Amino acid sequence: MDRRFSLFSLLCLFFVVAIAATSHVVEDPVQVLMTSDKVLENVISEESEDPEHLIRQVVDGTENLNDPRLGAEHHFELFKRRFGKSYKSKEEHDHRFNVFKANLRRARRHQSLDPSATHGVTQFSDLTPYEFRRDFLGLRSRLRLPSDANKAPILPTDELPTDFDWRDHGAVAPVKNQGSCGSCWSFSSTGALEGANFLATGKLVSLSEQQLVDCDHECDPEEPRSCDSGCNGGLMNSAFEYTLKAGGLMREEDYPYKGTDRGTCKFDKSRIAASVANFSVVSLDEDQIAANLVKNGPLAVAINAVFMQTYVGGVSCPYICSKRQDHGVLLVGYGAAGYAPIRMKEKPYWIIKNSWGENWGENGFYKICRGRNICGVDSMVSTVAAVQTSSQLSVESEF
Ligand SMILES: *[C@@H]1O[C@H](CO)[C@@H](O)[C@H](O)[C@H]1NC(C)=O
Repeated sequence: MDRRFSLFSLLCLFFVVAIAATSHVVEDPVQVLMTSDKVLENVISEESEDPEHLIRQVVDGTENLNDPRLGAEHHFELFKRRFGKSYKSKEEHDHRFNVFKANLRRARRHQSLDPSATHGVTQFSDLTPYEFRRDFLGLRSRLRLPSDANKAPILPTDELPTDFDWRDHGAVAPVKNQGSCGSCWSFSSTGALEGANFLATGKLVSLSEQQLVDCDHECDPEEPRSCDSGCNGGLMNSAFEYTLKAGGLMREEDYPYKGTDRGTCKFDKSRIAASVANFSVVSLDEDQIAANLVKNGPLAVAINAVFMQTYVGGVSCPYICSKRQDHGVLLVGYGAAGYAPIRMKEKPYWIIKNSWGENWGENGFYKICRGRNICGVDSMVSTVAAVQTSSQLSVESEF
C-alpha cells in the first residue's frame, strides 16, 4: 500500500515538475502527497551548474543576488560576515563553500517552485539538507494521529474574523532559538501553553523548553518506542501529556534553555508557572483550525520544513511539498488575502512562529498559504488549555 502510494506520488511529481518546467502559467498545480524530500531534490534537476546563472532570483536578505557581476565567493563572504561564521580549517571552509553553492542552487529551485515567497541565503546556507534536518528540526515522524487522542469539540465558524493575529493580543512570547538541537517540539509545546496560560490568567509568562528537553521522556501511546528525547526529537502531544502528569512547566528564567540534552532533570515542582488542564487534536478542517486558534489561543502544529531552510520572507505556497512533517511550530494567526502573485488569485495564509531566532524569516515568523494542507500544515494540530493555579496569581509577568 505504502509502496504503491509512493510510486503514484512519484509519477505525479514527474507530471508536476514537467508542467512547472515547461510552463509558467500554472494556476492551481496538482497537489502531490508524501513525496520524500530526497525524491523532490533529485527529480527537480539542475538547469545549470554555473553559479552566476544559478543565483538568479535569489536574495541574501540584504542584497539581491541577481547581480551577475557578483559570484558565489562574494555571497559566501557576505554570508560568513552576516552570520558570524568561521571554519576550523581550510578543508572545512572549502567543504562549506561547496555546500553553500549547492544551497544557492537549491534556493533557486525553491524560488521557482514557490514564487510567492522569497528564497535565498539564510543562516542555514552552509548546511546540507541532512545536517539541517538533524540539527534544526526534531519532530518525531509519525504517520497518523494517535487514535486515542481527545478530539477538540467542533466549534461554530460563522463569526470568525477575516484576519487574526495573537501577537496583537499579547499571547505570543518573543521568538526563541532552539540552536543546533532537534528540540522544535518543545518550543511548539511551550508556545501553545504560553498562549493558553495567557488566556487563563491574563499574563504572558515565557515557559521552559529545557524542562521538556531534560525531563520529558513520554512515549507515543501508539508507537511505544517513539518517545520524547531531548535534542533527538519529540512530539507536542507527548509533551502535553508529560506536562499534565508532571504538574506543569517552570518559567523560562527559572529553568533556562541550554540547547543540549546532556544535563539532568532539574524540575522543581514548587516553582510551576503554568499547568495543562487538557489538550486535544483539532480536525483537518481549516475553519475548525481557525476557530480553535481564535477561541483557545496559538496552536501547536507540525509541518514539513524543506522550504524553510531557504525561506527569507513572503507567503510560502510551493507547488509541491511533502506532507511528511518533520518540524514542530506554533500557529499564531491568519490573514485573508495578503499576497497576490501574478496570475494567481489572492490567497489566505497562516502565520507561524518558528524557533530559529529573530534573524530567520520575517523576524522569526513564517507565512504559509491556507487552503490545500500545504506541507502538511493542517494534519497535526493540537490545542491545549491551561489551569489557573493559585501560585500563579502572585507571579508577575516578565513582559
Ligand atoms: C479544557 O479545560 C478548560 C479549562 O479548564 C475547560 O474550560 C474546557 O472545557 C476543557 N476542554 C475539554 C475538551 O475538556
